[in-house]
Amino acid sequence: MKLISVAIDGPAGSGKSSVSKIVASQVQYLYIDTGAMYRAVTLALQEAQVDICDEVAVERMLAQSEISLNREAAGYKVYLNGRDVTTAIRTPIVSDQVSSVAALGVVRRKMVELQRQMAAGGGVILDGRDIGTVVLPQAELKIFLTASVEARAKRRFAEYQQQGEAITLDAVIENIKARDYQDSHREIAPLTCADDAIIVDNSNLSLEETATYIIKLIKEKQA
Ligand code: CDP
Ligand code: CDP
Repeated sequence: MKLISVAIDGPAGSGKSSVSKIVASQVQYLYIDTGAMYRAVTLALQEAQVDICDEVAVERMLAQSEISLNREAAGYKVYLNGRDVTTAIRTPIVSDQVSSVAALGVVRRKMVELQRQMAAGGGVILDGRDIGTVVLPQAELKIFLTASVEARAKRRFAEYQQQGEAITLDAVIENIKARDYQDSHREIAPLTCADDAIIVDNSNLSLEETATYIIKLIKEKQA
C-alpha cells in the first residue's frame, strides 16, 4: 500500500477540518490544519498588539512564535509557545483579522515552509486554501470541498451558539462572505480550485457521507 498526500481546500465552513479529522483517523494519516496555523499567528500578533502593516515587527513576532499541532486523547490541539490556544484561535476576533494576516507574504512564506516540513514523507492530509495549488502541488489526491454560503454560515453559527459566543447569524454570514472574498482575491496564493482537484459540494451531505466518499478516493489512489 502506497502512502499518499491529500490536499483538501475550500472556503470557510465547508467542513474541511471536521471531514479531514474523520478521514485521517480512519486511514491513519497525519492531519495538518493549516488554517489553525494562520489563526495562531493572528492571535500572537493581536496579543502583542503588533501593527500588521509593520513587516519588520510581524517578522520578529513570527521568529518568536513556535506553533505546534498535536493529536491528543482529548482531540487535536494547537499550541503557541507551549500554551494551548485551541479555543482562543476560534473566536470572532481572530476570525475577523485572520484573512488580513494570511495575505501577508512574510507570514505565508514561513507557514508554507513549516507545512511542507510537516508533510514530508506522505501519509498526510492537509486542509486549507492553497494546499493543492501551492503547498503540495504534487499531492496525489486533491479535493475542493465546498457548500453554499447559507449552509456554511449556519454550521458556523451553530458552533458559536454551542460555545456561548454572542453573535448573530447575519454577522457570521458577513464574516464568511468577507473571508471568501479576501481569500479568493489576495495576490499571493489565493483560494482557488486546482485544475486537477475533485470538486465536492457537501451542502446536502452529512460529515460521514462526505468522509466516506473521500476515504474511497484515497483507497483507490493507495492501491
Ligand atoms: O475553519 P475556517 O474555514 O473558518 O478557517 P480556517 O481554515 O481556520 O482558516 C482561517 C483563515 O486562514 C482563512 O480564512 C484564510 O484567510 C487563512 N488560510 C490561508 O490563507 N491558507 C491556508 N492554507 C489556510 C488558511
Ligand atoms: O474547516 P472548515 O471551516 O471548512 O469547516 P469545519 O470547521 O470542519 O465545519 C464547520 C461546521 O460544519 C462543523 O461544526 C461541522 O461539524 C459542520 N459540518 C456539517 O454539519 N456537515 C458537513 N457536511 C460539513 C460540516
